[in-house]
Amino acid sequence: MLISQKIEAAFNAQIGHELSNSHQYMAIAAYFEKEDLFGLAKIYTEQAVEERDHAMKFVKFLLDAGASPRFPAVPEPRNDFATPVEAAQLAYDSEITTTKQINDLVDLAQSERNHIAQNFLQWFVTEQLEEVASASTRLNIIRRAGPTVLMVEAYLAHQ
Ligand SMILES: [Fe+2]
Ligand SMILES: [Fe+2]
Repeated sequence: MLISQKIEAAFNAQIGHELSNSHQYMAIAAYFEKEDLFGLAKIYTEQAVEERDHAMKFVKFLLDAGASPRFPAVPEPRNDFATPVEAAQLAYDSEITTTKQINDLVDLAQSERNHIAQNFLQWFVTEQLEEVASASTRLNIIRRAGPTVLMVEAYLAHQ
């Protein structure tokens, strides 16, 4: 095995976090779909697929490293939102949390001087910059659009 049991356990925990994020994005997408805001629903559905892909990257790495991927139970996401801003805020907050989780994994890999794991994690470090930036933009646009959010749909249609 190319990684320690500690890294294996931490990466398996991250599989759970990424799948939880996927679940949460699907719940957010369903909320926007219910509100007939289809442009936003599409974006969060795509995000959900991306998060599942993130989980699968960890699965593949663990297999390649001779470790054992484990799929944990995924907790129920938040399903109800009072406003679009609330949903977009939750998405932003969860990307900030994920960034901290990835940083912790890098710290762990560095402390063990595991360059293979560190190199693998660099993709996620770069990805989180993109994820936080786009979540922040979405939150700002939705916030600025006010209660109807219809302008956001028009904005998305022209992107
Ligand atoms: Fe992710
Ligand atoms: Fe993400």
